[in-house]
Amino acid sequence: MSIDVERDGGIATVTVNRPDALNALDLEHAQELLERLEGLAAEEETRVVVLTGSGDKAFIAGADIKYMQGLGVLEARRWGELGHACGQLLETMPKPTIASINGYALGGGLELALACDLRLAASTAKLGQPEIDLGILPGWGGSIRLARTTTLGFAKALIFTGRPVDAAEALEHGLVNAVFEPGELMEKTRELAEGLAAKSPLALAYAKEATNHALQGPHRTNLETEARLFALMFSSEDQKEGMAAFVEKREPRFTGS
Ligand code: CAA
Repeated sequence: MSIDVERDGGIATVTVNRPDALNALDLEHAQELLERLEGLAAEEETRVVVLTGSGDKAFIAGADIKYMQGLGVLEARRWGELGHACGQLLETMPKPTIASINGYALGGGLELALACDLRLAASTAKLGQPEIDLGILPGWGGSIRLARTTTLGFAKALIFTGRPVDAAEALEHGLVNAVFEPGELMEKTRELAEGLAAKSPLALAYAKEATNHALQGPHRTNLETEARLFALMFSSEDQKEGMAAFVEKREPRFTGS
């Protein structure tokens, strides 16, 4: 299998398994990744999705340059749309997505990590948008999401120069949420994912929907969306359970109903 999916206790870990090419995504791998993400988005028992790369050297070293080399304009357009579809799913599926960045996250690799809700990195990871040195620009959402995640100035510096940053610099700019020693990254990712899997899936889905609006569209409408989703939670068992558990001084048991 070129894209592995491992399920354990509500957590699905998606591993791009192409270590010989540092997990770069060619057409076959990108299409398979999209299919896997579509399946997981619809799967109710999956509460949290983790994206990572096989081996200890790379998360995803980008789109496959050898595949892209001969593309014409229409093929390049479809290739861009395929990456965008993967990013769109990671960004909008109604459950948290976590990029566990275990090495190189370059080009399309960083762009998919940016589409995830949260990013944890190994201290050895290198992150960047080197497309400029291939005579192109980021094509899987990086020119938008990098600026939205960090700052416009930092995004332009990375995209214009192609300079990769290490995990410490990425953390400093908010590009990743936390950095761990390589041997600890998976365990810390799992801890975070388990914590999220125990929360109300409904509240998490609405929280994701509301926060996804934060940096786009009309402010007033976004606040109204938040108010609507907030009110909707009061029709759920999870709201009753969460508040009862607080009052009764016990841990809540959320069911997603
Ligand atoms: N595409 C295709 N093959 C890749 C690749 C990529 N993005 N990244 C690495 N590989 C392959 C190498 O060609 C090499 O294969 P061979 O052994 O068959 O030659 C193998 O992976 C190992 O790579 P290196 O020998 O280069 O390993 P290294 O440790 O010397 O260097 C690296 C590691 C700095 C990550 C280097 O491989 C590199 O610069 N890779 C390209 C990174 C890149 O430019 N990514 C962006 C692609 S463009 C993009 O993603 C567009 C978009 O927005 C959608």
